[in-house]
Amino acid sequence: MRLILSTLLLGIILGCSGTDQTQNLSPKEAFIDSLLNEMTLPEKIGQMSQATGSFEFTGPITSDSSTLELVRTGRLGSFLNVVGAERTREAQEMAVNGSRLGIPLIFGYDMIHGYATTFPIPMGEAACWDLDLIKRSAEITALEASAAGVHWNFAPMVDIARDPRWGRIMEGAGEDPWWSSKVAVARVEGYQGDDLSSTGTIAATAKHFAAYGAAEGGRDYNTTEVSERTLREIYLPPFRAAAGAGVASFMNGFNDLNGVPASASHLLVRQILKKEWDFKGFVVSDWASVQEMTDHGYAASDKEAARLSLAAGCDMEMVSTTYETYVEDLVAENASYLAMIDDAVQRILGIKYDLGLFEDPYRYSDAGREAKYVLHNDHFKHAREVAKKSIVLLENRDNTLPLDMDLAKIAVIGPLINDPVTPLGTWSAQGKKEHVTTLLEGVQLAVSEQTKILTTNGCEVNSADKTGFKKARSLAKQADVIIAVVGEEAMMSGEALSRSDIGLPGVQLELLQMLKATGKPVVVVLMNGRPIAEPWMYENCDAVLETWHLGVQSGPAIADVLFGTYNPSGKLPVTIPRSVGQIPIYYNHKHTGRAFDPADRYTTKYIDEKYGPQYPFGYGLSYTNFEYSNLLLDKSSFQAGESISIEVIVTNTGPVAGEEVVQLYVRDMIGSVTRPVLELKGFEKIMLAPNESQTLHFSLSAEELRFWDEEMQFNWEPGDFKVFVGPNSEDLLEAEFKLL
Ligand code: NOJ
Repeated sequence: MRLILSTLLLGIILGCSGTDQTQNLSPKEAFIDSLLNEMTLPEKIGQMSQATGSFEFTGPITSDSSTLELVRTGRLGSFLNVVGAERTREAQEMAVNGSRLGIPLIFGYDMIHGYATTFPIPMGEAACWDLDLIKRSAEITALEASAAGVHWNFAPMVDIARDPRWGRIMEGAGEDPWWSSKVAVARVEGYQGDDLSSTGTIAATAKHFAAYGAAEGGRDYNTTEVSERTLREIYLPPFRAAAGAGVASFMNGFNDLNGVPASASHLLVRQILKKEWDFKGFVVSDWASVQEMTDHGYAASDKEAARLSLAAGCDMEMVSTTYETYVEDLVAENASYLAMIDDAVQRILGIKYDLGLFEDPYRYSDAGREAKYVLHNDHFKHAREVAKKSIVLLENRDNTLPLDMDLAKIAVIGPLINDPVTPLGTWSAQGKKEHVTTLLEGVQLAVSEQTKILTTNGCEVNSADKTGFKKARSLAKQADVIIAVVGEEAMMSGEALSRSDIGLPGVQLELLQMLKATGKPVVVVLMNGRPIAEPWMYENCDAVLETWHLGVQSGPAIADVLFGTYNPSGKLPVTIPRSVGQIPIYYNHKHTGRAFDPADRYTTKYIDEKYGPQYPFGYGLSYTNFEYSNLLLDKSSFQAGESISIEVIVTNTGPVAGEEVVQLYVRDMIGSVTRPVLELKGFEKIMLAPNESQTLHFSLSAEELRFWDEEMQFNWEPGDFKVFVGPNSEDLLEAEFKLL
């Protein structure tokens, strides 16, 4: 251990270097115990307080200018938005050398899809159905961030979202609890690795606990009303999975859940997280969410807000300062808060200990490593790989794609053709437009020397101005094919960026209609942070590629797919509605007593809109075709303790090699409470050469068929089930079995 900490802290470290046999504490527990004994109440409260640096911010700054003084006096334990080896070192020196106990700060930051090397937005990346790639993005994020002095990521966001109006749908893994849980684990493992103290790993946060994605009307920060069954069955599984994977922290949601703001939810934090799940890490509030409980009309004063959050188990307050201001008074009035404070501080110090900060508080603030790892070439290679695999081919009429690389003339038209900002998406952390290769640059790099590329924007993303249409039409007419690049800018999705109309903004649809009217094939490259409802585009354009906001290698990755260097394999992690009026629309809905029947007036439907979505969950095309056959079960019934084997043959019947995401769903036919029509329970991603077949094997156990029953017990129920296998949640082969 280096002798860089204060004498007091050093004394504690030396005093705890062996296992304390008398109390049977681990070295970590003994160290934290002794440190806690040395701490004054204000120092403890300091550990429970987080301020924002002035370098970046994501909300109203509520902390005052004496923040640095707090650091020097041991009254602040954490910063967010202070990044870079040099800056974090400076701030750390203030805490370690200035304060009485020299307890190191923990630096948190939002790295939702990369630190400086930006990967696809999380929802887009979830379309690749490749957990190794997803984990690798998180590992790279951790490597870059940790070299820049950041210890702690406010990711993964694991909120299930069933409403694409909600701008933050882009931050999660979509609508399905099973897939979102797998992605949550991959991301937590990627950020944290096996050893938090390693210099290449960082602590992760599962957020926003909980049901924040169910905000009314898709309006950010809004109220949520979710039954406990739906909460546990739909919204909590990814959080449970993250906790199981050892995630270091949880973040409260901004939302009021069933009448209680999540930051004061005893049920969520004390009962479910800390008791039922035995979570040992710490809970941080969201930005000022403790203080905002006064605005919710839940706390009568800031002091009461502090009391309610502390009592509910929120260990660290982000940005607002109610803990700093009122917790001492609360203790003076009622000493029983001390135990809660000690528990919170132990949890926070525990993660600082795991990160190795007591051993060397500067281990992550390393300018040499920062220069070496941030924006490393290998990270860009990965960015291209994961980006191309996240693209979903939605339409490909008459095999318009892939395009020949030696076409004579290609018109690249649209407001986003050469925009280096949009591919970074929202929450781009240290991602910079200079690092982005745009669509146009990607196409230019891919085509032959003879190919002439004609370009114009045609219009802006969100404007009524159509003066650019004339030039666009004239270029389009000269070309063999039109690549039309349209969608949403980066800052049209993400926090505080909900939309009430989720079609193409501005006159972009009209631009597409004008281009289509030229008679030339129109390939739409859609860049967006949420599902876009625009039926005409999907139903009339010759090809449509869903490319999300793909990150720094957006251009080359899209060109890989446009020109067939890569055969697309992405599948939607979220349903695409036909119109806003259909929302919420998701594949794992319940049965009704009157299932949709177009011939029967008295069944569930709209009179002015088709019933189904534009594209179902799990959907995505390829440049080849896959045929599914011979769905077989090894038995017709089984009992708890056994499992059933399911096999299916998938054949590539098309002209080129391709990858397919084979999906397995179940339906519990009758339950003590009604069950969803389908639930995803497995998938395999396979590569098949033309004419190649593969037999895939899945298995299901009773454990995997559990749900929250009538008595709110998590259990399976004997009875009839259907199992389905197919390329998406609509085109499915089916078989039946019985659970005895
Ligand atoms: C508010 C957001 O809701 C949260 O996700 C984020 O981590 C914090 N701001 C910190 O930036």
